[in-house]
This record gives sequence, C-alpha cells and structure tokens, in this order.
Amino acid sequence: MRLLLLMRLAAVLAWAVAGGCVFLALANRVLIQLRQSRFKMFVVFSVMAAIIALSGLSGWVTGWTAWLVLPGLVILAAAAGEVFRFYLRARHRASRPSERVRPRRGWPVLTTTDCVLARYALALKGWKGTPFTIAHVSDLHVDPRLGLDYFREVADRVVAAQPDLLLIAGDFVPSARRIPMLAPVLSRFAPVPLRYAVLGNHDFWAGPERVADAVARAGIRVLRNESVSLELAGGRLLLSGCEDPWGRPRWQAPERGRHDLLVVLVHTADVIYSLGRAGADLAFSGHYHAGQIRIPFFGPVVVPSAFGRRFDHGHFKVGPTDLYVSAGIGASNPPLRFFCHPDIFLVTVSAAAPAGG
Ligand SMILES: [Fe+2]
Repeated sequence: MRLLLLMRLAAVLAWAVAGGCVFLALANRVLIQLRQSRFKMFVVFSVMAAIIALSGLSGWVTGWTAWLVLPGLVILAAAAGEVFRFYLRARHRASRPSERVRPRRGWPVLTTTDCVLARYALALKGWKGTPFTIAHVSDLHVDPRLGLDYFREVADRVVAAQPDLLLIAGDFVPSARRIPMLAPVLSRFAPVPLRYAVLGNHDFWAGPERVADAVARAGIRVLRNESVSLELAGGRLLLSGCEDPWGRPRWQAPERGRHDLLVVLVHTADVIYSLGRAGADLAFSGHYHAGQIRIPFFGPVVVPSAFGRRFDHGHFKVGPTDLYVSAGIGASNPPLRFFCHPDIFLVTVSAAAPAGG
C-alpha cells in the first residue's frame, strides 16, 4: 500500500517536473516578453501554478502507468535541449574579463546594486588605429526604488574609466513616469567624448519619441536604424544602431565603405545571426539582464530570448562577430537581482598583430 502511494507520488513529481520544463520554455519565449504592467508577474506566476498543478494532477490521476512516457519524453527533450545549449554556449564562448572590479565585498546573494566593472581586451585584424576603449552599459531601468545615487555612481564610474566611446544598449526607463529622472543621470556621462544609444523594448512601451528626446537632450545620440562614421584613435569605425526591441529588425546593414570596423549597437542579441550575415565585426547588446535571478553553478532560470540561455551574458564569437551581452545596470520587476551582478563592460580594442609578424 505504502509502495503504491510512493509510486503515485513519484508519478506526480515526474509530471510536475515536466510541467515545470514546459513553463520555463514558455516563460523564456513568451511570458517574460509580455508588456510590462502591474499584472505581469501575477500572470507569469498564475501560468506557472496552473501548468505545474495541472501536470501534477495528471500524475495523480494516471499514476504509475504507461502515461508516464509523456512526462518522460518532455523531460528528455528539455535535457537534450540543455545539453545542446551547453554545447553551443561552449562553442560560441569567447574571452572572459581580464579584470572584474566589485565595489563591495562579501557573499553575493542580493546583488541588485552591486555593480561590477568588467574589462575585456580584444585584438581585431581589421582595426588600423591605436587601441581605444568602449564603455558598454545597458538596461538602466532608472528607478528611484534602487536609489538614484546608484545610477549616478554608475555614470561616474564609467567616466572615471576614461573610455573613448560610450554605447548604451537601451531600456532607459521601466515606465513613462520615470522619463524626467533620466536627465540628472545621463548628463553625468557628458565627459565621455562620444556617446551613442539605441532604445529598448521598455522604452517603446514608455513612448519611444519621449525617451529618445530625453536621451538626446542629455547629449547622447540615439541611433534609430541609422549609422554614423567615427574617426577614432587613428582608425575609422562605422557605428550602426539597430532599433529592434523584439528581434524583428527593420534595420538595413550600412555600406561599410572604407571603414576598418562595423560596430552594431542593438538592444537584444536575438538578431545576432543576421548581424553576422551583415558582416558586423562587433555587436553590443543587453536586454537579458543575465537572467536577473541566477542559481550558483546552474546559471539563469529565465532569459527573455528566443535562444533561451545561449547568449545570456558575456563575450561570444558568433560567425565573424564579437558579441558582448551586458547584464545591465537596473532591474525589471521585481527590481531585484540574486547572484546576478549588474555590470559595466570596458572593451579595449586594439589591432591584431599580422600573421607571422
Ligand atoms: Fe531591460
């Protein structure tokens, strides 16, 4: 009798785990991409509870029978997907930061405002100038609940690093009522000589014209599917802003001309394969928040990407493109990060030595 009960509970567990796998696939690709509203998390948790409860109930009703094949197949498919993703991540993974500076010490559990400054070094064959440094930040989600001092400190740390070029990959505000808070934060980036940005999905929900206007008034040029030619450190760089908050770009690859590098700034890395086909040498994005909630030795649970956790955070090489995916500065609702540091990337680009030289 006790054995029968245990077998039935095991069936419930198998069905519930399968339901959890289905929920995570749905959360990554659909639920987390839903427009931000006060009901969003309620909807996400309701769907999670409904799927897991219904699948658990199916396990209770069907018990230890041939029906167990169904959750078994779902779990197997999820595990195969994870193995494939692990392989792709390993294949695309490029460098790790040469230096990581954390302002605080201690066990990093609640990391919402524990912003890391990560330095990367990248040698590119195409670059003909001297070394220069790009500061890459994303997803500020400027919100007084994190304390406006935090955002000002982030801007000051970027400026203190003396980059040549600042790229901001969108999601300036979580909602329209935060737009007036942008000016005192963004104006602090003014000492960086060159400053560019694209908009993110939250900026579109808040009102793209109003956000772009506030950013431009703070002295940061917003690239809305347009490109600029920059002469920098003795080389020529073509910087293009791909405005694509939902992975469906209306962006046209610019004519590269006589530029050494084509650099693309885009909110989400979901378009990375198209950027590779367009010949981008470098791409900078955000949007994923590195998952915002990560489990040690496992990584993020939910990443808002068509590729799941494949490009969650860091430096990847995808075809001809060096892709940098920032964890962002702020946080979406709930405004918390667990085991997931916000970060500033400083990428120093230099000319690769000629082969044999
Ligand atoms: Fe974001």
